[in-house]
Amino acid sequence: MLRRLHPVQPDSFEFTPANLEWARAQMTKYPEGRQQSAIIPVLWRAQEQEGWLSRPAIEYCAELLGMAYIRALEVATFYFMFQLQPVGKVANIQICGTTTCMICGAEALIEVCKRKIAPTPHTLSADGKFSWEEVECLGACANAPMAQIGKDYYEDLTPETLEVLIDRMSAGEVPQPGSQTGRFASEPVVGLTSLVDAKGHSAMNASVQLATELGETLKRIDGTEVPILTKWRDSPQPEAAADDQSGRDTAPETEPRPSEGDPVDKTGVTEQEAHASSAARPVSAREPAGVRAEEADVKKD
Ligand code: FES
Repeated sequence: MLRRLHPVQPDSFEFTPANLEWARAQMTKYPEGRQQSAIIPVLWRAQEQEGWLSRPAIEYCAELLGMAYIRALEVATFYFMFQLQPVGKVANIQICGTTTCMICGAEALIEVCKRKIAPTPHTLSADGKFSWEEVECLGACANAPMAQIGKDYYEDLTPETLEVLIDRMSAGEVPQPGSQTGRFASEPVVGLTSLVDAKGHSAMNASVQLATELGETLKRIDGTEVPILTKWRDSPQPEAAADDQSGRDTAPETEPRPSEGDPVDKTGVTEQEAHASSAARPVSAREPAGVRAEEADVKKD
């Protein structure tokens, strides 16, 4: 499928201050000069902020990471998770259309989307609140058919429950994600057939619990939602070692030195091999006679 930029583009894009700080923090995960390795999370955050990736957003991310626009464009157009056209203000509904969901009724869900949102995918509804698309397996096959709406999964759907979800979201509600038939997780629909005495301690499974606590299912992310976790930025970094070629460093290193204490040889290279007499290499009964003596000679040379 050919993925092109949308013909109608905004004039500009800018991260919110908190998102910009988050993006700069991601860049510190990579060595100096390799900041472009952060392109996917940075593009993703731009999409989380705006809902989709406009050309100004892609160029902004490229500039932030010091890379050519075309390289960022290649990434954005390659991965289907990046939306290259405006999506619904409330949600882009992603219906799983792969085998299990298809067998369990995904086509009927798509009919609901066509009727309630727009006849074609990647098209805004008349009120601009919703868009929809069919996606490949989202890994919740045991709870088919399902859809990803915003950040979370809505499972065990029927055309009727999907219609209700869309109406509630349109009215400003955020319905509880997870199974819509009351299944706790992905146990059999007829109930547990093993471990029947196991009693859970919570009303929701862990992912539904987390989604409910975060409350970000339909939210555009501005960066203030969660703390930035790149803690290494807060502690002073040791200076890089300046090796004076004598085997004695002039600054402390953070990496282990296997040849600690050994001087460099005449080529300026330190000895890295383990000694033949190392306890890590016990004598083998099948070892050819004299091999250790030969190794010792080589080491002396
Ligand atoms: S087939 Fe739909 S989640 Fe796997």
